[in-house]
Amino acid sequence: MKYHHLVLLCCAFVAISWPRPAAAEIKVNIYTNLHADPEVVHYSAKNTIELNCNTTESEGDITWEKGGKLVTEVSDLKDRVVIKGHNNNTLTLKDLKENDVGNYTCVLTIGSARYQDSVALATASSAKWGVRVTKNTNVVEGEKLTLKCEVRGDLTLQWWYRNTTSGDNYTQLPGKEERVRLVPYYDEDRKVNVTDGELKIDEVNMGDRGEYICIGESEDGQRFNMTSAVRIKDKYAALWPFLGICAEVFVLCAIIFIYEKKRNKTELEESDTDQSPDQKNTPDHGKESNLRHRQ
Ligand SMILES: *[C@@H]1O[C@H](CO)[C@@H](O)[C@H](O)[C@H]1NC(C)=O
Ligand SMILES: *[C@@H]1O[C@H](CO)[C@@H](O)[C@H](O)[C@H]1NC(C)=O
Ligand SMILES: *[C@@H]1O[C@H](CO)[C@@H](O)[C@H](O)[C@H]1NC(C)=O
Ligand SMILES: *[C@@H]1O[C@H](CO)[C@@H](O)[C@H](O)[C@H]1NC(C)=O
Ligand SMILES: *[C@@H]1O[C@H](CO)[C@@H](O)[C@H](O)[C@H]1NC(C)=O
Ligand SMILES: *[C@@H]1O[C@H](CO)[C@@H](O)[C@H](O)[C@H]1NC(C)=O
Ligand SMILES: *[C@@H]1O[C@H](CO)[C@@H](O)[C@H](O)[C@H]1NC(C)=O
Repeated sequence: MKYHHLVLLCCAFVAISWPRPAAAEIKVNIYTNLHADPEVVHYSAKNTIELNCNTTESEGDITWEKGGKLVTEVSDLKDRVVIKGHNNNTLTLKDLKENDVGNYTCVLTIGSARYQDSVALATASSAKWGVRVTKNTNVVEGEKLTLKCEVRGDLTLQWWYRNTTSGDNYTQLPGKEERVRLVPYYDEDRKVNVTDGELKIDEVNMGDRGEYICIGESEDGQRFNMTSAVRIKDKYAALWPFLGICAEVFVLCAIIFIYEKKRNKTELEESDTDQSPDQKNTPDHGKESNLRHRQ
């Protein structure tokens, strides 16, 4: 009888901690008219997409989020999102844009419990890149460097630089130096100015060699980046081979000149010796005897 209370307590504990089958089975599943359980849904700009949320529990509230934010609160989606269905379980996105890419989540809230399923939206054309720069860029020292960062969607751009010569870490551009400028460019397709879309250096020097990274970030925190390896060519790079040829020509000329001179000299000497027997018969005779006299 002494343990009566203890047994009761144990029973109560077991009853509380026993997994309740109803709660464990609650499932949430996003489906579309094409896929029962997609992980990624590809879309084309300007189209409409409908996501449905199937739950095993009819109670609770359904909300839709993009990247952790209620879709109705994403300013980019304003006026293009419709939520309907018996339990708000259908999300329609209209007039899709490139930057609608991201994770969309159906959240079922029952009391304080959350059950959810996500699907990633990607553009049909290319979900592979958000930003793009030329992979390798070569500039001649003293000339102008322009790097253009092409973007998909409304991304906020940043540029970073890594000095591969000194092996330094990444530094954000533009730094304190005024040589490096970030300027907008006009995107013909989307008819918008892309802020900080172009990086410009008017007169590059050998120290500008390195990696230039364009990083794009969307409103819901998606990040893209691409690196351009910039090499600076010596201003005189084209001159060296020319100078080499000049030097070669000079050396050749010198050799020919010296050879010719030497040959002339030997010819003269040879003609001197050839002529000597004749010279003996010339009236120059006395001169020679004079020389002999001196010796
Ligand atoms: C919704 O979920 C139930 C239970 O899991 C399933 O039987 C049904 O086929 C699902 N409907 C759709 C359209 O996925
Ligand atoms: C659907 O959502 C709206 C606003 O987000 C809310 O006012 C409404 O009560 C919801 N309906 C259901 C059935 O949950
Ligand atoms: C680069 O950053 C790392 C970590 O922040 C640091 O350990 C390293 O010393 C840095 N290198 C240079 C060259 O600044
Ligand atoms: C882009 O910038 C140019 C020059 O600053 C300006 O004239 C033009 O109106 C801008 N276009 C848009 C769509 O903002
Ligand atoms: C990169 O490093 C080299 C060697 O330390 C230096 O001469 C050059 O000025 C640096 N470049 C930039 C842009 O800081
Ligand atoms: C989208 O979801 C996947 C899988 O959960 C995750 O790896 C990825 O980082 C998410 N992307 C964003 C932009 O939140
Ligand atoms: C660039 O993107 C890759 C892959 O997403 C990531 O691993 C890397 O850290 C990013 N680099 C920077 C500088 O953000």
